[in-house]
Amino acid sequence: MKAKEFIERYYTERKGTSSLKWDVLKETFGADDLIPMWIADTEFKAPECVIESLTERIQHGVYGYSYVPESFYEAVMDWEYTHHGYKLQKEWIRITPGVVAALYWSVNLLTQPGDAILALTPVYYPFLDSIKDSGRRLVACDMAYEKGVFSFDAAAFEKAIVDNDVKMYILCSPHNPVGHVWTYEELQTMLKICKKHNVFVVSDEIHQDLTFDNHKHIPTATIDNSAYADNLITCFAASKTFNLASCFVSTIIIENEELRKKWDAFVKVFHNVDANIFGLTAVEAALCGGMDWYEGIKDVIHENYLAVREGLKDFDKVYLTSLEGTYLLFIDLREYVALEDIHSFVQDKCKLAVDYGEWFGDSWQGFIRLNLATHPDIVNQAVSNLARELKAISAK
Ligand SMILES: Cc1ncc(COP(=O)(O)O)c(C=O)c1O
Repeated sequence: MKAKEFIERYYTERKGTSSLKWDVLKETFGADDLIPMWIADTEFKAPECVIESLTERIQHGVYGYSYVPESFYEAVMDWEYTHHGYKLQKEWIRITPGVVAALYWSVNLLTQPGDAILALTPVYYPFLDSIKDSGRRLVACDMAYEKGVFSFDAAAFEKAIVDNDVKMYILCSPHNPVGHVWTYEELQTMLKICKKHNVFVVSDEIHQDLTFDNHKHIPTATIDNSAYADNLITCFAASKTFNLASCFVSTIIIENEELRKKWDAFVKVFHNVDANIFGLTAVEAALCGGMDWYEGIKDVIHENYLAVREGLKDFDKVYLTSLEGTYLLFIDLREYVALEDIHSFVQDKCKLAVDYGEWFGDSWQGFIRLNLATHPDIVNQAVSNLARELKAISAK
């Protein structure tokens, strides 16, 4: 499906629906009249097949105890193999109420209080929270950066591991917020270094399906014929791909049997029952019948990305990341706006609600993250506000 048809069919008003993105602007940013370009979800209704399956389940009317049906596992395994070439076995799969929950559990299961855990910054801020909240030591290793291009610095990565006696690395693949899709060689280098220094890897692949142009997501577990899979937990979900975050269903892959035993014993203490039947129903339906929708949202995201580039092209020192993957754009405003003025520039002048650079790591103040998975009118308004205010600054 093409962007135009997708938008006509699925764009939906969210204000007043307990939407975190739209309905807590005042509490979060101090003003209600901002264009919400933050939080990674979208304004598009789920595919019809999801709504139909949920409706059928709801109309059945009996909501007693349920279990995870075989068909759910099959849908997950089929999707992963078809789209990413990763052949899963059913017994490797665990379900959690979110990828972030799985990050917290992994940190608590596999490390001790005070242990050092590495994150490549800037990175999705719950990574940093999961480490700090759990009383572990955050080792933030900044990616190399120049004019909108973020890259992996293997020497800095290894040095951070050695200097801090790092026990775990939380990898974001593709990488939020910089939109980078890691190459085979980059993943291989990271994994080799981690193995050499006995560092456990947790790989968050929630954005795996959202890649563009020739960029292809490679599951971390498949590198070098699964040579590193024993020291790895992989997390993914249909929630970003199909906008199902409130369904609270994520899939966690643990290939190593001993590790699975540990995980199960750890999780048992919380009496974490598998998952809510509505979430399972929605995810299975999306994975089995949502292909046309999936193509449509990718087209919308890509067109929005091109529109932002076009709208900001006159400002040659506003640096934008390339959209290799995710639906998030990280924008460097530092050449135009003083660091202490960024919030007032973005909110009071441009009237935008964004995720601020410093949320993703201490070095990144002056950047903003924009969410592109929304109606082009919203994106165009946001970009036009940004361009108007940048022009006003340039004219001074
Ligand atoms: C890298 C990454 N991991 C996890 C999440 C959220 O996962 P969940 O809602 O399943 O906890 C997001 C949401 O933006 C994300 O970007």
